Amino acid sequence: MFQQTQENVTKVSTKALIVGLFEEQKNNQTTYEELNQAFDQQLDELMQAGDLSNKYGKVGKIHTLGKIEAERLYFIGLGKREELTTNRLRKAVGKTFQSIQKDGFDQAAVSIASIFQENPTEELLEAIGDAFALSTFEQSTCHTNRPEKTNLGSLKFISNQELDLSAVEKGYAYGTGANTARYLVNLPSNLLTATDLANFAENIANENDLEIEVLGKEEIEELGMGALLAVNQGSNEPPRFIVMKYQGKETWENPTALVGKGITFDTGGYSLKPKDGIVGMKMDMGGAAAVVGAMEAIGKTKPKENVMGIIAATDNMISGKAFKPDDVIVSMSGKTIEIRNTDAEGRLALADAVAYARKEGAAKIVDIATLTGGVIVALGDKVTGALTNNDEWFEEIKTASEKMDEPVWAFPYMEHYREEVRTSHIADLNNSPGRKAQSILAAAFVGEFADDTPWVHLDIAGTAVSDSEYDLGPKGSTGVMARTLAKAFDLDK
Ligand code: BES
Ligand code: MN
Ligand code: ZN
Repeated sequence: MFQQTQENVTKVSTKALIVGLFEEQKNNQTTYEELNQAFDQQLDELMQAGDLSNKYGKVGKIHTLGKIEAERLYFIGLGKREELTTNRLRKAVGKTFQSIQKDGFDQAAVSIASIFQENPTEELLEAIGDAFALSTFEQSTCHTNRPEKTNLGSLKFISNQELDLSAVEKGYAYGTGANTARYLVNLPSNLLTATDLANFAENIANENDLEIEVLGKEEIEELGMGALLAVNQGSNEPPRFIVMKYQGKETWENPTALVGKGITFDTGGYSLKPKDGIVGMKMDMGGAAAVVGAMEAIGKTKPKENVMGIIAATDNMISGKAFKPDDVIVSMSGKTIEIRNTDAEGRLALADAVAYARKEGAAKIVDIATLTGGVIVALGDKVTGALTNNDEWFEEIKTASEKMDEPVWAFPYMEHYREEVRTSHIADLNNSPGRKAQSILAAAFVGEFADDTPWVHLDIAGTAVSDSEYDLGPKGSTGVMARTLAKAFDLDK
């Protein structure tokens, strides 16, 4: 998929040659000069005419008409050199890969000297590999007349200096994990039941040297997961509890648990969602998808940490057997819960999954969930909401999220909120104390089960799906947090 060549930029045979343009270039950059010469200085004219631009994010395409070996040139505007961060580079090259793929080319080459003055760092190469995976992803659809689409599947790096292509492959692994999450979130719930999700996770585990255990309904009953079972009660589909393990240390000690909400469809249950609010609820397993994707990336990048991926999977349905508001249930931890709202089901599934993580000896926990509509009101669709009982652990996740350009922002975890989830007159906890501060209260409910284990909660209800195309992907599921969660185990500490 990735190769290097030391050939001169005018001699590289490729369908699409990518060249970076900086604002301060003033036509004195070697690569540009070499190309400009091959074009009898006419690139300057195209720059002046505005057909090519060095402004950040502009992509300009020209046919080479045989003047160089490459068939087409794609110029990426990179803006001011000192402003080119890793995140800006990832987006700019991603946008370029996307347009090359759209133009129908399966292969491209990139001039490294036109982008970097020095041999690029691992982080920058990683970002290119990451962008290559993310931006060439296509949402799969069920159209009967779907035209055959080209996949941009090969990239040549043009550089005189020896490049560390394993860094590019590492980045590609992160992007691949996110693509897995995107694929899963995009699947409708009739095509992705809890059982299907478990089978899919099993395949991912087998392909990436991960251990996996899938618990069925009887085993879930034996463990006493009354909260997960309550959500599943109205369904004809059995629940699944998925445990994936990656061992990166000599011994299985102090594992970190990634815990995902896997509601394959959320009708709201008897606290039924309105007809407009129910559309799109196939995405309610976005947390679970991020966990599967992160575990895949972890299996491929092999960090020196022990990691468990834990998923509580079911749909939330209505029937004569379904759980109801006013019911009181017993969670695996022993804590009793008064159901005030069957649509606050995610925190119930997570309650048992987080308790299970602790029982399995998790030293640190991250839970990830499409938990509340409130987080969309608060932070929109670009920033993931967070809550934590441990600032140090949160800083690690935040650092990883910044590196991967998936911003997170923490809400306050104050005593007042913790008390509010304990306000039931009939049970230990109240699953829905009200609409005020609902993102915090939902998270605080989960926090009751994390207890004193360092814990970070991520609410991706706003960020799991994008309603339009963006630089690094198509409209639809984003696979958000799969990359961040995997990256969290690869920080230099
Ligand atoms: N899955 C929803 C949250 C959600 C809403 C995700 C919109 C994506 C888009 C969750 O289970 C839910 O229903 N939350 C309730 C919380 C309420 C009962 C306090 C909500 O958002 O209304
Ligand atoms: Mn719900
Ligand atoms: Zn839900």
